Amino acid sequence: MGGLFSDVTDTIFLEKEVLDEEYQPDEILEREDEINEYKSAFTDVLFGRNPSNVMLYGKAGVGKTAVTRYVLEELKTETEDREDADDLYVHRHNCNGDTMFSAVRTLVNGLLPEESAQFPKKGLSRADALEEFYAQLERLGGTHLVVLDEIDHLQDANELLYELPRARANDYITSARIGIIGISNNYTFRQHLSAKVQDALKEEEISFSTYDANELRAILHTRAEKALSEESYSDSAIAKAAAVAGRDTGSARQAIDLLRKGAEIAEENDEPRVKDDHIELAREAVKRGRLQDKIKDQSLHARLVLEAVAKLDHVGETPARSKAIMKTYRRVARKRAEEPLTTLKSIQNHLSDLYMLGFLLRSEENEGRKGGSYHEYDLDMDANVVFEVCDQLDNEDAV
Ligand SMILES: Nc1ncnc2c1ncn2[C@@H]1O[C@H](COP(=O)(O)OP(=O)(O)OP(=O)(O)O)[C@@H](O)[C@H]1O
Ligand SMILES: [Mg+2]
Repeated sequence: MGGLFSDVTDTIFLEKEVLDEEYQPDEILEREDEINEYKSAFTDVLFGRNPSNVMLYGKAGVGKTAVTRYVLEELKTETEDREDADDLYVHRHNCNGDTMFSAVRTLVNGLLPEESAQFPKKGLSRADALEEFYAQLERLGGTHLVVLDEIDHLQDANELLYELPRARANDYITSARIGIIGISNNYTFRQHLSAKVQDALKEEEISFSTYDANELRAILHTRAEKALSEESYSDSAIAKAAAVAGRDTGSARQAIDLLRKGAEIAEENDEPRVKDDHIELAREAVKRGRLQDKIKDQSLHARLVLEAVAKLDHVGETPARSKAIMKTYRRVARKRAEEPLTTLKSIQNHLSDLYMLGFLLRSEENEGRKGGSYHEYDLDMDANVVFEVCDQLDNEDAV
């Protein structure tokens, strides 16, 4: 008898890493215009001049990171071949939840020589961190491009984006040059910057639109050729994944995830080929997962109210009025050993929020001749998904 894993064979995947998030494609498809805009923003670097600042906007999964990496790698290769170009350094930083101090501190630590001690976390100011940053830039010379991903999550973006572009004009650096590349999902980011920052930045703006199904199909094809073995997928499965993602988010990440998940499902079922059905199953699994996450993000009592509506839905007693929902909610809360909220108003507020968030359907009914109207609620999802998540969270709490 073989071991537990001895029957596992790799038939579908040729190189599964190609479908991983970190994988850098050798070829960027369907982004010629954006790449060209990027290119013209950085031509000055080839002649030892100041780089432009660039802001990239676009929704999740539309290639901002992939295109940036590609363009900067190409730029680096080219600067190495040219005499007029200074040495190019690229510093990448994700700003999620950062303060200006911690962002600059991380940049400094990336620049310090290996033997130096790291820049301290505490005790020094923003100005100290910036001073050290400029000192390191001067030590190295050359052109420095600072990529600030999720820049809209930087707590004091105004200050940093005011300081860095003016470093040379203020003589903080003289031999080094600096350019900023900001990446954001939030198109209104610029409006939140103060007028003087907007003026200092003078950035080029590149906006990335979402992909349509045809573009996604082209991207998926090149991925599939590398990731999957030749006979293991059909064009129609690829087209299906592209169509689903194209309709839903227009994100290449979603399309690639669907393909990977579909291939995994085919493999689990011992099937030699990824078919449309597998992509459909992948789509459902992903949707379920997303819903589960969304439920988990709700507060305790919002979840209990949702569970109450799911219970009523399960026994065919929806649409229901808030009073009926409150009764069930009380039972649900006790069963979960939680103290229920006592006012009808608080339940109505939760119902209204859950409706806004897309968990519930709501209709307005009239109360006969006396006038006045009331709301009825119905569940707008599979009740089992709600039960699964609530049970799971309850169990986690008990541990
Ligand atoms: N034009 C493209 N050609 C090939 N692969 C692409 C293209 N656009 C995106 N991808 C791939 O899709 C995935 C998501 O792209 P990427 O990480 O660049 O998105 P993003 O815009 O940076 O998203 P986020 O805002 O979430 O950071 C990556 O695996 C990337 O390699
Ligand atoms: Mg990105």
